[in-house]
Amino acid sequence: MNQNEQKQAVAQAAADYVAKNLPRGAVLGVGSGSTVHFFIDALAPLRAHLGGAVASSEAARHWLEAIGVPVVDLNHVDRLAIYVDGADEIDPQLRMIKGGGGALTREKIVAAASDVFVCIADDSKRVERLGRFPLPIEVIPMAARQITCQLAALGGEPHLREGFVTDNGNLILDVCNLTIDDPVAMESALNQIPGVVTCGLFALRPADMLV
Ligand code: A5P
Repeated sequence: MNQNEQKQAVAQAAADYVAKNLPRGAVLGVGSGSTVHFFIDALAPLRAHLGGAVASSEAARHWLEAIGVPVVDLNHVDRLAIYVDGADEIDPQLRMIKGGGGALTREKIVAAASDVFVCIADDSKRVERLGRFPLPIEVIPMAARQITCQLAALGGEPHLREGFVTDNGNLILDVCNLTIDDPVAMESALNQIPGVVTCGLFALRPADMLV
C-alpha cells in the first residue's frame, strides 16, 4: 500500500469508528491535514448521523461544508465525544508532534475539549522518539525574534515559516534539532515563553487511540 492508500484506509477505519461510537446527532471534532481530508471524504455517507462538526482549521471548515456537514462553533458545545486528527509524528505513548499544516493551536483547543482523540496516521508518522520532524511553534508576530533567540539558547534551530500566516493571524517557527527527552516537560516549558501561542507537542493531552 502506498502512503495515500494508507491515509485513505485509516480515514475509512476512523469513519467506521465514528459511525459505531458517536451518538446519533452528536457533534464531531475534526482536525486538519491531508489524512483528515480523506477522513472528511469518508464522512459523506454519515452526514445524517452527525449533528455537525467543530473544525480545527479554515481548510477543514471548507471541506466539511463541501460535503454538507454543518460546522459548529466550539463555543456552542460543552464537550465533544470524539476528535479525529492526523499527526506529523506519534510515539508509542501516543504523544505527537503536530502543526505541519500550521493548525496546531486550534487542533490543541479542540483536542482538549474532546473525550476521545483518535489519531489517524500512515506508517511514516510512527517514531520511537519525538523530534525528527521540525517542531512547529505558533508565535505572536511581535515576539518572533525574541522567541527565536530563546529557542536557539535551548539548542534548537528555529526557522520562520516563510510567507505563512496562521488562521489566527500569527507566525510559525519550525524548530530543528531540539532534543526532546521529556515531551511533557518540554511542552510545558515552551508554552511558558512569552509570545508563544502554543507549541506543536501534544504530550500533556496525547491521543487515546491510533488508527
Ligand atoms: C496540521 O496542522 C497538522 O497538525 C496535521 O494534523 C499534520 O500535519 C498531519 O498532516 P497530514 O495528514 O497531511 O500528514
